Amino acid sequence: MTPVKRILSGIRPTGHIHLGNYLGAIRHWVRLASQSPLGQQDQLFCIVDQHALTTMQDAQNLADNTRTIAAAYIASGIDPSKSSIFVQSHVPGHTELAWYLGCITPLGWLNRMTQFKDKAGKNQESALFGLYAYPVLMAADILIYKATHVPVGADQKQHVELARDIAGAFNNYCQKEVLVMPEPVIETKVARIMSLRDGTKKMSKSEISDYSRIHLLDDPDTIVQKIRKAKTDAFPVPETLEDMDVRPEAKNLMTIYAALTEQNTDDLCQKFGGQSFSVFKQKLSDMLIETLLPIQTHVRSLLRDKGALDSVLQQGAAVANDLANQNLDDIRDALGMVKRG
Ligand code: AQP
Repeated sequence: MTPVKRILSGIRPTGHIHLGNYLGAIRHWVRLASQSPLGQQDQLFCIVDQHALTTMQDAQNLADNTRTIAAAYIASGIDPSKSSIFVQSHVPGHTELAWYLGCITPLGWLNRMTQFKDKAGKNQESALFGLYAYPVLMAADILIYKATHVPVGADQKQHVELARDIAGAFNNYCQKEVLVMPEPVIETKVARIMSLRDGTKKMSKSEISDYSRIHLLDDPDTIVQKIRKAKTDAFPVPETLEDMDVRPEAKNLMTIYAALTEQNTDDLCQKFGGQSFSVFKQKLSDMLIETLLPIQTHVRSLLRDKGALDSVLQQGAAVANDLANQNLDDIRDALGMVKRG
């Protein structure tokens, strides 16, 4: 990995923030930020509300989810005095840069994006332009800050790679190294947390069944119930990694437990292998409650004072706008746009 100079990442406020977002993204950001302590200008965490609009949102839910995610960042360990936490739509430069980048991005590159294919399904003719074009906006989110590292779950790797391709094409177009090539950083151990109902599908905010995911704010009884009902097969806990790897639901629960307790799934096979899943599930629920309860208490207290939370977001947006505007000056200049008076 090249030296970490600036980290940027974000979450879409499309629904209840869940365990996959926490283990696959936020907890990873907290670690990365603490390993490479950078300034407030160089640890940027946003709530990407404009991306949320690529799927239909209820206006009140969007606002509530935006604040809840901001609170979840803070409660999970992102310190707003050391990092900038902001809302994407508070920095207009993202959408301006997205237009410039869209003008040099071939359609063929967007056609390859697997998330569009998955989300649009068979009905691509009626899929919306925003869903198709959002990887260009995501490239702008990253490139506008000259971010060097983008911590994401494995499902977002393709989009960061596209941002690299777009940066290369843009620099080539301008004949100048205006944009910085970002690197995806993926926490390989917990890259993907899967649905509790189907171990082959990713845990997702937009999945209809609440029982497919653990919400970050689920109360202890709900956690116990969801884990008890989580799909498993008819066999006990796998004793070997080979056995675990061919049993997606068993693997998922073991991956979650391993991530929460900082162990390898190999160790778990030795410790729990051959035992009944009901015992393992009880231990998993206990561990989830132990991990999530302090975060939940902190999130709830932050949400009680919306004014204070909004002022954290305003401070974050001020830092982000300064950076974005400096970089946009260079970008407009390289494109030949006349300077504003
Ligand atoms: N299941 C997951 N396992 C590991 N990481 C995950 N992430 C999301 N789901 C999992 C990571 O969380 C970050 C923010 O994701 P996002 O909300 O911006 O977009 P998403 O990947 O589309 O998340 P969802 O929950 O699936 O939302 P919907 O249902 O609205 O599409 C990213 O780093 C992502 O990798």
